[in-house]
Amino acid sequence: MTMKKQILTFVVLLGTVCASADNAVATLHADQAGSKINKEIYGQFAEHLGSCIYGGLWVGEDSPIPNIKGYRKDVFDALKALQIPVLRWPGGCFADDYHWMDGIGPKKNRPSLRNNNWGGTIEDNSFGTHEFLNLCEMLGCEPYISGNVGSGTVKEMAQWVEYMTSDGDTPMARLRRQNGRDKAWKVKYFGIGNEAWGCGGNMTPEYYSNEYRKFNTYLRDQGDNKLFRIASGASDYDYDWTRVLMKNIGNRMQGISVHYYTVKEWNKKGKATIFTPEEYYLTLEKCLDVEPVVAKHCAIMDETDPEKKIALMVDEWGTWWDEEPGTIAGHLYQQNSLRDAMVASLMLNVFHKYTDRVRMCNIAQVVNVLQSMILTDQKGTGHMVLTPTYHVFEMYKPFQEATYLPMDLTTDSIKTTEGKMVPMISTSAARTADGQIVIALANTSLDKSQKLDIALEGVTAKTVAGRILTSKSAVDYNNFEHPNVVAPREFKDAKLKKGTLSVKLPAKSIVVLTLK
Ligand code: AHR
Repeated sequence: MTMKKQILTFVVLLGTVCASADNAVATLHADQAGSKINKEIYGQFAEHLGSCIYGGLWVGEDSPIPNIKGYRKDVFDALKALQIPVLRWPGGCFADDYHWMDGIGPKKNRPSLRNNNWGGTIEDNSFGTHEFLNLCEMLGCEPYISGNVGSGTVKEMAQWVEYMTSDGDTPMARLRRQNGRDKAWKVKYFGIGNEAWGCGGNMTPEYYSNEYRKFNTYLRDQGDNKLFRIASGASDYDYDWTRVLMKNIGNRMQGISVHYYTVKEWNKKGKATIFTPEEYYLTLEKCLDVEPVVAKHCAIMDETDPEKKIALMVDEWGTWWDEEPGTIAGHLYQQNSLRDAMVASLMLNVFHKYTDRVRMCNIAQVVNVLQSMILTDQKGTGHMVLTPTYHVFEMYKPFQEATYLPMDLTTDSIKTTEGKMVPMISTSAARTADGQIVIALANTSLDKSQKLDIALEGVTAKTVAGRILTSKSAVDYNNFEHPNVVAPREFKDAKLKKGTLSVKLPAKSIVVLTLK
């Protein structure tokens, strides 16, 4: 494996380590349970972008790559194991260019399309509504459809909902039956547009609110299928967008989205696997900035919806690096290092904290695009690799549907070159339905191990077991020749004694513990 120059030695002190205690200390308040962590926080996103769909999820039935009815088998099996709860499709920016009727019926009759947003690639529409909804059924996850407001019509969107969810003797249900699917699918999550402030139509929030209200009027619930309607929300710091939509759309939506990418500078994103310690900490700083962003959107929503009926959905998030050299421009294919795993861990820890309002998050994206779970070989060799980010999602599985437990934490911090603080430890805890306590711990420091003592209040557990994700260097990653460089291992440095859990966290590590 070409680990390139692994320049993460620590001769250079980045910033001050601000000491607070010899050992980091925390108190877990298991007696003060918070909200349920919706499984949808672990949501995924699959856009017609690069090789996410074609070559990632879908290879077609005639492919030499092993497949189940056209779905790539290795990818399918890995996603099944991950218990993905919800999958968003068909975009992203692609959604507002997508006309669903081109993707139904016999494949040979489907017109091809030019993917205007992502490299101008020609697609044959062989993956359409049936292929997507059947995949969700096979994976046992909720589909989340993004409807086309930007270039679509109200009629087109209304007919799509009817096509997917009507079990009556209606024109669209008849068309669906002609195309081989008798029973309606269950579709809960429906996005009315995407990034309406940008690729989804370049609208103002006032104009979009009116568009939403118009489209929404004709999206009729079919039978007992009730749509959970999601408005196209803000880009990270655009609080005005949320405020206007809350006022003008209000309870006509059940959810409003927000997008937050971990990118320091859009015109200088940096490489996925070559970075300095300084860049590592600046990335974590940017990633942790999601907390004030989420908190502020939540506070705005509280003004008009104090009962928290409307959910905030972070339906796009993740790292965004330069595309890998030699890959197709516009396909957003990037590697994924231990740094990406750290970002995933920190972001999930933040989302857990806000689950009274944040009820769905969708990492961008599931295969081969941005901070993906899985990478497949772009040369078509049939190789697949699980990324460090996949392993974080897999280790965090017990958090799905568990009840959030607050924890007070005193930890050292590292001051970045931009003067902000990155805590050396990040934690999250929850109680699972069967009474186990699950604790996630991340040591963000590149060079210092950390001892942490957690006082356990309201916990009767007798045993602790866990797994750790770490590697020699934060730039380490998995590739097709070396797929297990960054992979979870058993963790033995956690001891339970007299109501205290003592843990020794190696540098740059993520640990998930289960207390029984
Ligand atoms: O995830 C890639 C793109 O990022 C999506 O298509 C768009 O919604 C966002 O700008």
